[in-house]
Amino acid sequence: MNELDLLNEADSRGRRYVASVGERRVYPDAHSLAKLSQFNEALPEIGAKAIDTLTLLDEVGSDATSVSNGPRYFGFVIGAVLPVAAAAERMVLAWDQCASSFQNSPVADVIERRAAHWILDILDLPRESAVNFGTSASTCALGCLSVARRELLKRQDWNLDTQGLAGAPEIRVVLPQNVHVTVKKALRVLGFGERDISFAPVDQYGRIEPEKLPRIDSRTILCLQAGEVNTGEFDLFEPLIKQAKNVNAWVHVDGAFGLWARANGRTRCLTDGVEQADSWTTDGHKWLNTPYDTAVGICRHATAVSEAMNSDAVYSTSSDDSQKNLGLEFSRRARGISMWAALRTLGRAGVADLVEHNCGQAQRLKDGLESAGFTIHNRVVLNQVLVSLGSELQTNMLREAAEASGEIWFGPTVWQGKTVFRLSLSSWRTTEGDIDRAIKLLTDLRTSILKT
Ligand SMILES: Cc1ncc(COP(=O)(O)O)c(C=O)c1O
Repeated sequence: MNELDLLNEADSRGRRYVASVGERRVYPDAHSLAKLSQFNEALPEIGAKAIDTLTLLDEVGSDATSVSNGPRYFGFVIGAVLPVAAAAERMVLAWDQCASSFQNSPVADVIERRAAHWILDILDLPRESAVNFGTSASTCALGCLSVARRELLKRQDWNLDTQGLAGAPEIRVVLPQNVHVTVKKALRVLGFGERDISFAPVDQYGRIEPEKLPRIDSRTILCLQAGEVNTGEFDLFEPLIKQAKNVNAWVHVDGAFGLWARANGRTRCLTDGVEQADSWTTDGHKWLNTPYDTAVGICRHATAVSEAMNSDAVYSTSSDDSQKNLGLEFSRRARGISMWAALRTLGRAGVADLVEHNCGQAQRLKDGLESAGFTIHNRVVLNQVLVSLGSELQTNMLREAAEASGEIWFGPTVWQGKTVFRLSLSSWRTTEGDIDRAIKLLTDLRTSILKT
């Protein structure tokens, strides 16, 4: 089969999959999972036919997907993928660009600059900020936090590049008690130990209590949250960032999904003051519904970013604001193009609608489940709903039964010491009918679990 026929075949298989996402089991059954053993082959000595590889991928692989690209996947703030973002991704694959600089890919450079501009516009963050398209909120946090440390050291007349870390002024980090695990991981990778970190107590909603903030100074990185992973709550940015600015501390905001609340008029107030921070991370692949590996690290101190991230070499020099001089990667795919496509096609109003639509669905789910007798554990200010049923055992039984039904999927979590499950609304595909179906299913399962 020639290249174009193979791509056509992949496309028609992909189209069939997408057409079926509303009917597929949301989580694979035991039979489909068992079939995955077909991938446990030895490395072929002589390559297989390309069409056979594609057929195996589809015929065994497709049935073993979590249908996160469908309407009733409520796990992990994953979101589906917008048609235009998926379509743009196909073009990007055809182009196979290395999006490190204008020299490597004029088109990727120009489009990603536009996407960066629009992201600052729609999130209303300082327009002079550097924007790096990274693979995830995790790697973007790693980048931002490394820039933060280097810059705070520079302000202490310590040159990290020439002097290294040994003997450097101590940089401390203050984290919310319930900080996302990936921020802790980024700090660990950067060499921050537990003794370098203080935890700020949080209130019943999961927000730092400003009056209980540990001591901060000009050698402190303070991390805040726009969208706590369980409750979807927001730190009180205005008082917290004011305290940080008073002592010249660096403020980094993890807004992996919650920063998009800023793009919707009704929820924007949850983020008031966040624009005063120094750096922010957010994902496209969560609430903007772009394909995976699409995130941004944003930093108002563009020079600090390009100094920290410069990777010019004799064979590869480019401007300070080229992507390779703003982020961790040298060679990289043009991931910003799917964000550009999503923003261009949704427009400001479409992004606001997406956020509003999912927040309304979260309320509908909360109300329906509450009336059915479930306990709701959060205020539902955004798109997250924390739910339990009676005992821990019953809550787990219900979640497992929901997964086994194949109709919906969501994951477990622990909130304030209690086992609950977490439903996240972040897909453009989800309709009110899907919410009602979820409420009915959970209500029926509840009734049968309570009878046992
Ligand atoms: C609040 C929060 N921060 C950070 C992350 C990490 O994002 P990513 O999976 O893109 O690395 C997540 C992902 O679940 C999250 O919900």
